[in-house]
Amino acid sequence: LRIAVFASGSGSNFQAIVNAVTAGRLDVRIELLVCDKPQAQVVTRAEAAGVPVYTFKPKEYPSREAYEQDILEQLQAKRVELVVLAGYMRIITDVLVQAYWGRMINIHPSLLPSFPGIHAVRQALEHGVKITGVTVHLVDGGLDSGPILAQRAINIERNDTEASLSDKIHPIEHQLYPEVIQSIADGSIDLTWNQWNHHESQI
Ligand code: GRF
Repeated sequence: LRIAVFASGSGSNFQAIVNAVTAGRLDVRIELLVCDKPQAQVVTRAEAAGVPVYTFKPKEYPSREAYEQDILEQLQAKRVELVVLAGYMRIITDVLVQAYWGRMINIHPSLLPSFPGIHAVRQALEHGVKITGVTVHLVDGGLDSGPILAQRAINIERNDTEASLSDKIHPIEHQLYPEVIQSIADGSIDLTWNQWNHHESQI
């Protein structure tokens, strides 16, 4: 399976995917890292891993659709089959959603549909939930919405802070995401079923 990873920041999830491939636990080819922040740490990680990098500056484009059109050309040139969002801090527009519907996944640090958006960990604490977790889902046009593929639960302890809870969530993400991608690669997660099911439910 040829994949591209999209990331904006530190890229610890990107690194976990690279490590899983290197260790032989994940049978995919990482064709491209797409990054909207040329200075991000994830770019350094990709270079170290020998993964081709495509960076862009959103401000240099007239619209989101315009930079996504360029990204789409990169993905098609490399015949990317699955797009993996890993801390990519941008809304995906119809340009990529339509082209990769059912073939684009995201990881999010809560049990969706609770706490979409960038403050998921803080909001879980503020609400006093006792269980939170990690979700991997198909990407539609919304914010952290789309059919759910996998989840892992984490207990919130009385003395947890945003930092301590994030420290528990990250290793779970690093384990879960490569597993889910491998399940897609070997067919044990059937994305075509999810695709069909989602469309049915919208009618
Ligand atoms: C992760 O917590 C992920 O769930 C969220 O963004 C964060 C990315 O972290 N979507 P990293 O860049 O992979 O370290």
